[in-house]
Amino acid sequence: MSKDIVQIFDTTLRDGEQVPGCKLDREQKLVIAERLDSLGVNIIEAGFPVSSPGDFQSVEAIAKLVKNATVCGLTRAVKNDIEVAAEALKHAKIPRIHTGIGTSDSHIKHKFNSNRDAIIERAVAAVSYAKTFVEDVEFYAEDAGRTDNEFLARVCEAVVKAGATVLNIPDTTGYCLPDEYGAKIKYLRENVKGIDKATLSCHCHNDLGLATANSIAGVINGARQIECTINGIGERAGNTSLEEVVMIMRQHPGLNLDTTINSKLLYDTSLMVSRKMGMMVQPNKAIVGANAFAHSSGIHQDGVIKNRETYEIIDPADVGVTESSIVLTARSGRAALAYRAKIVGYELTKTQLDQVYQEFLKYADVKKEVKDDDIHQIIETSKIDLQSIS
Ligand code: KIV
Ligand code: ZN
Repeated sequence: MSKDIVQIFDTTLRDGEQVPGCKLDREQKLVIAERLDSLGVNIIEAGFPVSSPGDFQSVEAIAKLVKNATVCGLTRAVKNDIEVAAEALKHAKIPRIHTGIGTSDSHIKHKFNSNRDAIIERAVAAVSYAKTFVEDVEFYAEDAGRTDNEFLARVCEAVVKAGATVLNIPDTTGYCLPDEYGAKIKYLRENVKGIDKATLSCHCHNDLGLATANSIAGVINGARQIECTINGIGERAGNTSLEEVVMIMRQHPGLNLDTTINSKLLYDTSLMVSRKMGMMVQPNKAIVGANAFAHSSGIHQDGVIKNRETYEIIDPADVGVTESSIVLTARSGRAALAYRAKIVGYELTKTQLDQVYQEFLKYADVKKEVKDDDIHQIIETSKIDLQSIS
């Protein structure tokens, strides 16, 4: 049975760029956009054109440059925002306007001092106006995660009727639990008239560390687009991480879901975004962190040397990492030492290994990590007969 394709909507250049202190200039944005296009993302959210002349120019330049992906611009449910976004996107091969408004009681009361009916009217007016410029209009119900499902369904039904092609259900504050978010998507699928005319989209924030889990719960329950960023960067604790959702779907064939992402470019893309944004990736970050394929305990190293799959669920080459690394520390065993010693040019006999291992442990107790250079030194200073090393 062929797998359902989940659209990957990358918002590194919009929600991702909202990280404090991580401004990108236009050239940097263009390089990243080109890479996202080669990576195989389906939609690139290039920016929020009305927010500044610089953002407008970046969105316009990205729209001209991108060859395959849809290029999208964010707006509020405000006429001028929509006009400015349409102008910035006019050279895009496939343009999309992403418009919307807050739908939770908190947003309706505190942000808009309004009421539910008036919010629906504004939502419909925004989508209808955006439709006069482009065919592809995505609607976001901001703070949908905390919006009452019945009202959310009313909003969705009204905007689908007005022509929305995609319904974005953001968990703006990262509050939902996976079951709750999944149930919300299911409820909308079952209760919004005309839902078959639109794609449901997950846009999850990571305030409780649940962005990835929530997005996956969303697609299991029928959403077919995930909004995400490289390295999971974004407002506050960040957005859903692109590399995580892509690899979850790929590593779990039972989900019967896949994406068009060329996963071999993931590691390199992560490095590129991290360097351009000056934002380090935490070493234990899933898929792309420096330690994602590093093994340091003796038991694990022994297993991985015998067969990589004992402790790795992803072949590092599938995400563009050249090889698993065996990191030598005081917790490493003889198997790991022999393995690395061989890589740097020493095939040790069992007796030699026993001797070198004692020297190695003394060294490793002082140093956090024993590097290849250190292995030369340890072997050279061990009291073993170097001549007999084959
Ligand atoms: O988190 C959010 O609700 C958003 C919307 C503007 C789509 O980023
Ligand atoms: Zn967001």
